[in-house]
Amino acid sequence: MLGIIPHTIDQYLRTRVPPEARAGILGRAGFPDGQTFRLDTEYDDEACCALVDAIAAETGTTTEAVFDEISAFFLDWAERTFSGFFKVAPDTRGFLLLQPEIHSSLACGLRASGQRKVADKFRVEALPDGVRMHYRSSNRLGYFYCALARCLAARRGEVAEISFLDGDVDSAAAIIEVRLKPALAA
Ligand code: HEM
Repeated sequence: MLGIIPHTIDQYLRTRVPPEARAGILGRAGFPDGQTFRLDTEYDDEACCALVDAIAAETGTTTEAVFDEISAFFLDWAERTFSGFFKVAPDTRGFLLLQPEIHSSLACGLRASGQRKVADKFRVEALPDGVRMHYRSSNRLGYFYCALARCLAARRGEVAEISFLDGDVDSAAAIIEVRLKPALAA
C-alpha cells in the first residue's frame, strides 16, 4: 500500500497516544522498533491493515471506531495537503466521483503492476443523488470507504446513507451505494 495511509495512521498515533503505546502498536502489527513511514514508499498491505487491528487491541476499542477516527484525521490532513482536489469537487458526490481518479493519479509513481493494483480497487458509477462504488481489494477495507464517505459528507453539511448491494464491510468485493442528503433534511 502507498505510504500515505500508514504515514497518516502513524501521525495519528504520534498525536493521540503516548510513545510507549505507539511502540506497542507498531510491534503488535509486526513493524520493528523505530519504524517510520514515507509518503512515497510502498508498504506491505497486510502489515498496514494489522496496524488498525493493533490500535483497536492496544486502546481497547473496535476496529470500526479506529477507522472512524482515522478517517477524520486523514481528511484533515488530505484537505491541507491536497486542497486542489477538494476545490475541484466541493460537494460530496463530486468528490466521490473523482476519488478513483485521485487514487490512480497518486499511484503514478509506482511500477505498472502497482498502478494497476490501485486502479483496480475502485470503479465508480454516478447516481442522481450519490454514487455506486464497485470496490475490489484483498485488504477488505469497505468499512474504511464508508467511514471516509460519511466523514466527508458531514463536513459538507450532508448525510451519507450507505447500503451494500453486494458483499459487506469485510468483503474483498463489494458494491456500495452512497446516497447524499442535506443534513437538515435527513
Ligand atoms: C484527497 C483525498 C484522498 C487521498 C489523497 C487518498 C489517498 C489514498 C492512498 C494513497 C491510498 C492507498 C492506495 C493503495 O496503495 O492501494 C488510499 C487508500 C484508500 N482510500 Fe483514499 N484517498 C483520498 C480520499 C479517499 C476517500 C474520500 C475515500 C472514500 C470515500 C477513500 C477510500 C480509500 C480506501 C477504501 C482505501 C483502501 C483501499 C484498499 O487498499 O483496499 N479515499 N487512499
